[in-house]
Amino acid sequence: MGQGGFAWAFAGREPDGTPVAVKVLKPLYAGDAQFESRFRNESETAARLEHPNIIRIRSVAKSGDHVYFAMDLCADSLGARIAREGPLAEADILRLARDITAALEFAHQQGVIHRDLKPDNVLIRSDGTAVLTDFGIARAVSGYVASTGVNMTIGTPHYLSPEQAQGRSLDQRVDFYALGVTLYKAATGEVPFSSNDWFELARMHVEDPPPSLRKKRTEISKRFERVVLKCLAKHPDDRYANAAELRADLDEIEQKQRPTANLGTAPMGTRQREALTDPPGQRRTWVILAGAGIGLLLLIGLVVKLMR
Ligand SMILES: Nc1ncnc2c1ncn2[C@@H]1O[C@H](COP(=O)(O)OP(=O)(O)O)[C@@H](O)[C@H]1O
Ligand SMILES: [Mg+2]
Repeated sequence: MGQGGFAWAFAGREPDGTPVAVKVLKPLYAGDAQFESRFRNESETAARLEHPNIIRIRSVAKSGDHVYFAMDLCADSLGARIAREGPLAEADILRLARDITAALEFAHQQGVIHRDLKPDNVLIRSDGTAVLTDFGIARAVSGYVASTGVNMTIGTPHYLSPEQAQGRSLDQRVDFYALGVTLYKAATGEVPFSSNDWFELARMHVEDPPPSLRKKRTEISKRFERVVLKCLAKHPDDRYANAAELRADLDEIEQKQRPTANLGTAPMGTRQREALTDPPGQRRTWVILAGAGIGLLLLIGLVVKLMR
């Protein structure tokens, strides 16, 4: 199906015929005992995360020289969908964002940070739900890099948080930054920061404000843009502190956007009934006539009084 920095991904079948995705560590890394054990440890950690929005890992194993793990096969990925269809509708993005946030909330509670959230790691089941994959794999790689000094960047730095770009200590809030980039890409078809030069890109993540989302895609709501911008805050303290906070904001947008057309009409009040039986224009004429009448009576009264 494709390949990442250190593994190939294949579509395959279990002996009983169940379709699966199989991720096989490239021989270069499978031959390295330290990397291999990190990879296995991290995939076993990921395998323990059982949640409807996290990919189910079916087995972690070694066969001959091949280290691999098998997981549920998904029909599609967010990355593939954006490549095919271009920017998605806000309602679609919102639904996916809520699924991803539910997965992050669960994983973070177990102390697991994703660290490599991006559209290719957001898989989409045939029923449209989003499923996160590659939990913790980035940690296996970065831990390996730290302990061996071997420079092995995994994949794209477009989703890298400023603190990761600067090699600072990180926590769960890196996942909100990467989610912000992912949502931005889903809404506009483009990542907020782009450069072929790794260092320039890292600098942009650290220093540059993201280009206005609503300028690129006017139909996106202000509320939604605000959520994306909060995720993209440079300092982790300015982002969501936890996934529950983010979920609350997403729920609110969802509620405000729910169409009112099919909710039925509200019970009618006296005013509304009056408005129907006695349209405002006609009512105004009556008020003017009544006023003129009273004025005329007062005037006659005054004249009569003066004449006496
Ligand atoms: N379980 C899966 N079901 C369907 N597609 C998958 C699955 N796992 C990975 N893929 C797809 O296979 C490709 C390669 O995945 P991967 O090796 O994780 O590299 P990366 O995530 O860096 O692109 C990606 O396009 C990904 O979306
Ligand atoms: Mg992946």
